Amino acid sequence: MNIYEGVVEFYNQHGEGVVLNNKKPYYVYGAIIDEKIKYQILKEFKTYGIAQLIEIIEKSKNRIDHNIKDAHLIGGYDLIHMNEGEQKNFKVNRVKNDFKKIAQYELDNIEWFAGKNKFKYRNKITLHDGFFYQKNSKTKIAINDFLLSSIKWDPNLRGDIIYRQLDTLIYGTKNEKKYTSDTLFGFKFRVGLNSFYQINKEVTKYAYQFIRENIIKEANTLDLYCGIGTISIILSPFSKKVIGVEINKESYEDAIYNKKINKIDNVDFINKSVDQFVCINDTHFENIILDPSRKGVGKQTIQKIINDFSPERIIYMSCNPATQASDFSYLKDFYQLDKIVVLDMFPQTYHIETIIVLSKK
Ligand SMILES: C[S@@+](CC[C@H](N)C(=O)[O-])C[C@H]1O[C@@H](n2cnc3c(N)ncnc32)[C@H](O)[C@@H]1O
Repeated sequence: MNIYEGVVEFYNQHGEGVVLNNKKPYYVYGAIIDEKIKYQILKEFKTYGIAQLIEIIEKSKNRIDHNIKDAHLIGGYDLIHMNEGEQKNFKVNRVKNDFKKIAQYELDNIEWFAGKNKFKYRNKITLHDGFFYQKNSKTKIAINDFLLSSIKWDPNLRGDIIYRQLDTLIYGTKNEKKYTSDTLFGFKFRVGLNSFYQINKEVTKYAYQFIRENIIKEANTLDLYCGIGTISIILSPFSKKVIGVEINKESYEDAIYNKKINKIDNVDFINKSVDQFVCINDTHFENIILDPSRKGVGKQTIQKIINDFSPERIIYMSCNPATQASDFSYLKDFYQLDKIVVLDMFPQTYHIETIIVLSKK
């Protein structure tokens, strides 16, 4: 097999270094921008190739040396060789590039927030017969110390076991109804084992505070994709009325429970898909909060929001800048982008969380 030399020019979507060989990009896992490296080509595709890092000839000053064996096998450690500044560069540039390519929009003044906890920040993990799954596969690997979470798991439990550590540790399978709780901004939240709950509390607190500061106060707010009702309830003291919409039954039941235990009377929750909800309603809300899953909101629903709901402010939190940029491409003629914050919700991984604040033009 041939060994080539090259300099890493940029990163791909997953934070892998990209070298050009006869103008064709090759993705090199674990390589950092500006490093001169030796690499071997593993796989060829039509427009790109996959290569393996053989040797670093000139090392980046942004590299952190670690001796974690098999780090590359574990989903979650993909950026562990980059220092904090380089992880930030990768994440902020990825968001910039996605908005440029997908929404034809040049972002400036991007705010960045990172918490103090760079490791052991995850409050949820899933194990399979006591093992982790290897990245992008169902091959099981044993790990003694998972660097992203301090949850103590039981290696003897069989099946797919979800662990969630908040006020108490709960664990069980997808079908089990078990609950723990957490407190945010003085409100208590019941969190079901299978409900959605943000996995990094420190960064989530910043995100929710940012949303709270940027809504139009004393107005009506529609919280789409509301999960267990965290954002709706946190916004309730500053809003006339809040409606939360959530498709998942368990999350919805938690939301209803959370409204009761916090004695909130200006919030209602609806157990429906957002797409269905926007088809059968057209009430005006001053604020709409969007916090969809990775697949984003979608053109049809965005158009309904613009035409039928016509909110003055949209605050859109996302864990996928590509789908957020795509949704923004339908909004940008009607809404101006006032603020964007990139949140380091998932340090050491290539995953990115962002919030954009939009105002009606
Ligand atoms: C990223 S989570 C956000 C939850 C909440 N905003 C929070 O901060 O905890 C996305 C939520 O959207 C829900 N969801 C996914 N697709 C949906 C849809 N089509 N309609 C309504 N809710 C949906 C998921 O069940 C999940 O609770």
